[in-house]
Amino acid sequence: MPQACVFDAYGTLFDYASAVTGFDAQLGAKAEPLTRLWRQKQLEYTWLRSLEGEHADFWQVTGDALDFTLESLELSAPGLREKLMDSYLCLGAFAEAPGVLERLRKMGIRTAILSNGSPAMLRSAVVRAGMEPLFDMVLSVEEVGVYKPARQVYQLAVDRLAIRSEAITFISSNGWDAWAASAFGMRVVWCNRYNQRPERLPGRPDHEVRSLAELPFLADS
Ligand code: LAC
Repeated sequence: MPQACVFDAYGTLFDYASAVTGFDAQLGAKAEPLTRLWRQKQLEYTWLRSLEGEHADFWQVTGDALDFTLESLELSAPGLREKLMDSYLCLGAFAEAPGVLERLRKMGIRTAILSNGSPAMLRSAVVRAGMEPLFDMVLSVEEVGVYKPARQVYQLAVDRLAIRSEAITFISSNGWDAWAASAFGMRVVWCNRYNQRPERLPGRPDHEVRSLAELPFLADS
């Protein structure tokens, strides 16, 4: 049984695709490519900035990725950028997430978020989803000034929870994040919501599930 469960935020607890919900009239058939390219560029920019030693927070990176995406898809409706960015501050939580967190806490397991998100973005998502009471701590990479999968990020959770890495189960829907946390020394559940193929990177998740409701130790509770 883990002493703490540490969750990735975007794609794991919060549905980044929900940022474009309600924009059907403006986006039409471009809604799906926008969601995909926005996310892809957002992640690329985190990796590239970390390699360059040119950190900027996730709000800036998310906006830069959106600008690239809107231009690529030739979307230029007035106010669209601002509305999509606002929408990113109030993403929907995946339906099973609050109930799973409640169960973990009843089992005496500590819960935390460890995310690329800036503190303000994470606070907004957690509060809007009504999930504030469900976490012992919300940790942002802003504390270390570099993005996942840098080891310093996973070390931040170890340091702040003050427990061994093996006592932590890290849960992420992002394969590369799951593999990196495993290589770092955490136990890992890969919540493979997006039906991706296994990464060819150091590490290996201990479990693969399709939703948070399938976390292996919940079955024993
Ligand atoms: C995060 C991104 C990787 O929340 O989803 O850290």
